[in-house]
Amino acid sequence: MNLTTNLTGLELKNPTILAAGILGTTAASLKRVMQGGAGAVVTKSIGSAPRTGHPGPVVTEREYSILNAMGLPNPSYREFVSELALAKGDVPVIVSIFGANASEFQEVARGLNDAEPDGFELNVSCPHANGYGASIASNPDAIRETTEAVKDAVEVPVWVKLAPLTNIVEMGLAAQKGGADAVVAINTVPAMAIDIESGFPLLGNKVGGISGPAIKPIALKCVYELYSALNIDVIGVGGITNWRDAIEFIMAGAKAVQIGSAVYNDIGVFKDISDGVARHLKENRRSLKSIRGVAHK
Ligand SMILES: Cc1cc2nc3c(=O)[nH]c(=O)nc-3n(C[C@H](O)[C@H](O)[C@H](O)COP(=O)(O)O)c2cc1C
Repeated sequence: MNLTTNLTGLELKNPTILAAGILGTTAASLKRVMQGGAGAVVTKSIGSAPRTGHPGPVVTEREYSILNAMGLPNPSYREFVSELALAKGDVPVIVSIFGANASEFQEVARGLNDAEPDGFELNVSCPHANGYGASIASNPDAIRETTEAVKDAVEVPVWVKLAPLTNIVEMGLAAQKGGADAVVAINTVPAMAIDIESGFPLLGNKVGGISGPAIKPIALKCVYELYSALNIDVIGVGGITNWRDAIEFIMAGAKAVQIGSAVYNDIGVFKDISDGVARHLKENRRSLKSIRGVAHK
């Protein structure tokens, strides 16, 4: 069964993609994910200056979910250029970037151009790093300007990653107006947990973002609404752990799916999901294209 997918001009051997921030800091770990069967990989979000991130704990596992407040730790684009060049491989490498405003996003994109990434994903949606992401996430003008600034600076496809708990269709339309080639929905959902013995919030940053199966229905609704309203590709992400989840997102309108939290349990999840999707399509004599968006009929 042929699962090749043309996503914003990139040829993917299957529609599964590593989500930003998961095993995406080094070329070696990105290569491991490629060997795990991913159709494309997205790096950890990279910014203009080195950041150590929030104080620990930065990640805690909860029921059906992971809660994190990493705080965008990254080596800066100047340091990351060489790692990115090494990461280039058999599948497209998309570099996730963040900044405080449109010109900072543009500076980071320009700085990474030399390493020739296959595309950029704009993280305008991190819920827990002050001054980044969240402040842009619900501002359609800022999303449009940021997208335009990066589009002006690069030749490769630009994806814009949106936040839940916003008017996501308005934000998606703003990205589209700015020239985005695709939107990615969703980033983590703002959340927290408290240790009842000590009374302290569990995360060093107190609040963070939740991911994993607990957020799947939220992400699915976002994808469904964006597919109805936009003319560009929609990439689904949030709580996908098996091929059934992937089919659900494709039926909601996703052209491809990203997988984050599930990778921690099994780096082979990309192969399992694409094998399962292929088997299901073959048994039902369907193609990927024929099931995309069917939930809208
Ligand atoms: C530990 C961790 C770190 C993350 N870091 C980033 C990041 O740097 N940039 C970004 O856009 N999203 C980041 N995310 C969000 C994921 O890319 C994804 O949108 C979210 O986890 C939902 O997908 P999932 O349920 O498959 O994990 C991170 C998520 C986790 C769990």
